Amino acid sequence: MKELIILTINGIEHGVLVETHWTLLDVLRDKIGMTGTKKGCDNGECGACTVIIDGEAVLSCLILAIQAQGKDILTIEGVSQDGKPDTVQDAFVKYGGIQCGFCTPGMIMASRALLNKIPHPSTEEIKRGLSGNLCRCTGYVKIIEAVENASTTEIT
Ligand code: FES
Ligand code: FES
Repeated sequence: MKELIILTINGIEHGVLVETHWTLLDVLRDKIGMTGTKKGCDNGECGACTVIIDGEAVLSCLILAIQAQGKDILTIEGVSQDGKPDTVQDAFVKYGGIQCGFCTPGMIMASRALLNKIPHPSTEEIKRGLSGNLCRCTGYVKIIEAVENASTTEIT
């Protein structure tokens, strides 16, 4: 049986009819049309589906949409500011942290959550912060450089 829920995504409320067993990931992509959040493993192992909920990086394939009601959900579509890329997005482009791009939205969200908590993380802290996000292309070096650069360019 379907239930009408309200999800607050990137500051906007969305009313959506969901089955109670649907994940937030599937609702974002298939019901709301926000396909920036990627579906990799669908099993909590790759990080491609990372969003930020109430300030914490969360795997949207492991949370039900009904559990996300009343929370503040930030997706990759909401990260840019005034039509300009966020500093983390900018740094990923500048430092070549993007190749095929499939892992990138999840990487950006995990990096964003990390920098919001630790504005100037050490390399070890960056590695730990991104340890749940897999990339098949970059070898991670450029991704880590991008996050380090973003942390030095942001005004805190
Ligand atoms: S799709 Fe959620 S962790 Fe892989
Ligand atoms: S850029 Fe291709 S998986 Fe990371």
